[in-house]
Amino acid sequence: MSVRTLRLPSPTHPRRALGAAAATAAVALAAVTLLPTGQAGAAGTTLRSLAEANGLYFGTAISQGDLNNAPLTAVAGSQFGMLTPTNEMKWDTIEPSRGSFSYGPADRLVSFAQTHSMRVRGHTLVWHSQLPSWVNSLPGSQVKTAMENHINNEVTHYKGKLYAWDVVNEPFNEDGSFRTDAFYNAMGSGYVADALRTARAADPTAKLYLNDYNIEGLNAKSDAMYNLVKSLKGQGVPLDGVGFQAHFILGQIPSSFKANLQRFTALGVNVAITELDDRMPLPPSADKLARQAGDYASVVNTCLTVSGCVGLTQWGVGDPDSWIPGTFPGYGAATLYDANYQPKPAYTASANALGGGTTSPTPTPTPTPTPPGASCQVSGKVSPWNTGLTEDITITNTGSTALNGWALTYTLPAGQTVTNSWNASLTPATGRVTATNLSYNATLAPGAATSFGFQATHTGDTAFPTSFSLNGTACTTS
Ligand code: G3I
Repeated sequence: MSVRTLRLPSPTHPRRALGAAAATAAVALAAVTLLPTGQAGAAGTTLRSLAEANGLYFGTAISQGDLNNAPLTAVAGSQFGMLTPTNEMKWDTIEPSRGSFSYGPADRLVSFAQTHSMRVRGHTLVWHSQLPSWVNSLPGSQVKTAMENHINNEVTHYKGKLYAWDVVNEPFNEDGSFRTDAFYNAMGSGYVADALRTARAADPTAKLYLNDYNIEGLNAKSDAMYNLVKSLKGQGVPLDGVGFQAHFILGQIPSSFKANLQRFTALGVNVAITELDDRMPLPPSADKLARQAGDYASVVNTCLTVSGCVGLTQWGVGDPDSWIPGTFPGYGAATLYDANYQPKPAYTASANALGGGTTSPTPTPTPTPTPPGASCQVSGKVSPWNTGLTEDITITNTGSTALNGWALTYTLPAGQTVTNSWNASLTPATGRVTATNLSYNATLAPGAATSFGFQATHTGDTAFPTSFSLNGTACTTS
């Protein structure tokens, strides 16, 4: 596969100036200029470089054990620009017994990051989970001192080396009430401000975050986080950002995600996607992977179009490293890389959303006029959900002559708008659409078939397209 010219955004971070319409247009353009999956990782096409060209970072979570996994580290060290230790900076690893600090595992991850010019998000200083039992056993009167000592020791150890800290992780219950963990029970909600102030004093250069899950959409829990952030900012408490873990389920990215992020940035904090994954019922299928690609592209686009969204971190490098199958039996395949660390359609979609498509797609051969007697058959499948759909379309050359370049034209039902495609270049996004071959699938021998697909939004009509013609000749459908 030849390396193509990249349509890289200007290094001046034009996303900050993108209006909604311009962003939509850019996304639509990117959607029709896909990088073939096998090209992922070619020079200049890393998620990291594409994200950085947009003024964002693209990170991943890595654990100490991952450092022995050569395929994993090869991907991590080249494709991602930010590292979050999966478990190694948590309280149970750092301070397993009171006053006894152990930095070896986390230091190894920081060292890996430095070797690969990656930055580090520290995760996490104050959290109810992975908290050693000695903390939970402390008399309430001693928790504040223990918490401040823990934060001060750990943040000081990494002073000047970390981009950011998740200072407090998961402070809320689903209904928006504070989680009654050791810290809340001892100090009330004031523990959050105290933790932030302690962290800032220990390292004035690290960005300080609050981080939680199920706060991506507008709901009671995100309302609680919003009110907390507003209150903290009003009191002058040091707080730089809010982390949205973004542990999504296939097809269920909240429609209010962008509006929710924007209400936080309006408070004067940055926002970050901190633990992104998108789980699906196992086993994965082409259809599910295509829908997942749409989900990832949507998340990337959301961050791109929210001024103040600083970057995205995926939780784990590949599907083998994901926490999902262990926690949600029957679910998995949640990351950008498959079991062999090969990029999935979600990778390609993410790269394209970041502008990784082609400025001038590899010139495709001019479709040759179909000779008399040539014919074609089209089949396909629509997989709809409430607001979107994916379609896989297979073209069979039922004629006796090979096609060197093809263009399939068809009519989309009203209300369907293409947002993403694979194995073909589609234009325009609505109405009478033409799907043109890419360089690697231009030839269609007699009797041969080729497939392409796309994702679209819809307004209710999820029917299969009609009136197919291949290189100007009407096709039968089956
Ligand atoms: O290290 C021990 C090992 O010695 C032992 O044999 C084994 C037996 O179960 O457990 C190992 O520890 C596990 C640890 O991961 C390291 O693999 C723990 O049981 C297991 O609970 C722990 O899970 C971590 C989880 O946080 C704990 O809540 C996951 O790896 C980690 O991915 C996950 O990350 C969290 C974020 O920090 C916060 N947001 C949610 C996210 C997913 O749960």
